[in-house]
Amino acid sequence: MKGNLTFRSAKESDFSRIQEIAMKGWLFSYSYLPEKELTKLVDKYYSDKSLSGSLKRVKEGTDLFIVAEAEKKIIGFCHVTAKSRVGEIVRLYLDTGYIGKGIGKKLLVRSEEFLKAKGCKKLFTFVNMHNRIGMDFYLRNHFVHIGEKDTEDEFRNGKVLWYMEKSL
Ligand SMILES: CC(C)(COP(=O)(O)OP(=O)(O)OC[C@H]1O[C@@H](n2cnc3c(N)ncnc32)[C@H](O)[C@@H]1OP(=O)(O)O)[C@@H](O)C(=O)NCCC(=O)NCCS
Repeated sequence: MKGNLTFRSAKESDFSRIQEIAMKGWLFSYSYLPEKELTKLVDKYYSDKSLSGSLKRVKEGTDLFIVAEAEKKIIGFCHVTAKSRVGEIVRLYLDTGYIGKGIGKKLLVRSEEFLKAKGCKKLFTFVNMHNRIGMDFYLRNHFVHIGEKDTEDEFRNGKVLWYMEKSL
């Protein structure tokens, strides 16, 4: 990868690029699901309103929402939230051309530092069991699967959203 990798807080003018990466990421990770429905979900979860709400929580101090930049553009982002001393990864996506270069791990480490400073002892996220790249990433980073907390996805495919947790 040419150029330096840098990290900074997300801001409103980043929304369109974040939305673009999220859309590519969802279509890449869930290529077996209907594209039209996936598009609707990303439009909802990454709407300007939803992203503004996330930045509001950043201001309030409960959330961290950072972007990674290289080659003068945003190439990925991570959004985590701290609630009652438990952290959650809400969003973690890289532009598809930047997967597998160690950037996800760097975003995760920064997010974990934030959560630890907030007093979090645990971190969890939900990962679709069919998302091999995502699942392998969390397993490599010492998350464990706790089956009783799995949930259904939006497509009613059964409990495919695996609850993954790690100690901080
Ligand atoms: C999940 C995701 C964020 C992980 O990020 P990533 O950068 O691909 O993962 P990593 O940081 O672990 O890097 C992957 C590999 O790059 C290697 N690597 C290559 N160059 C590297 C470098 N310069 N520095 C560090 N590691 C490097 C790492 O060693 C690692 O391989 P290994 O652990 O098997 O040895 C990313 O793959 C992604 O966006 N996937 C699609 C969306 C998704 O699934 N999101 C999460 C679901 S909720």
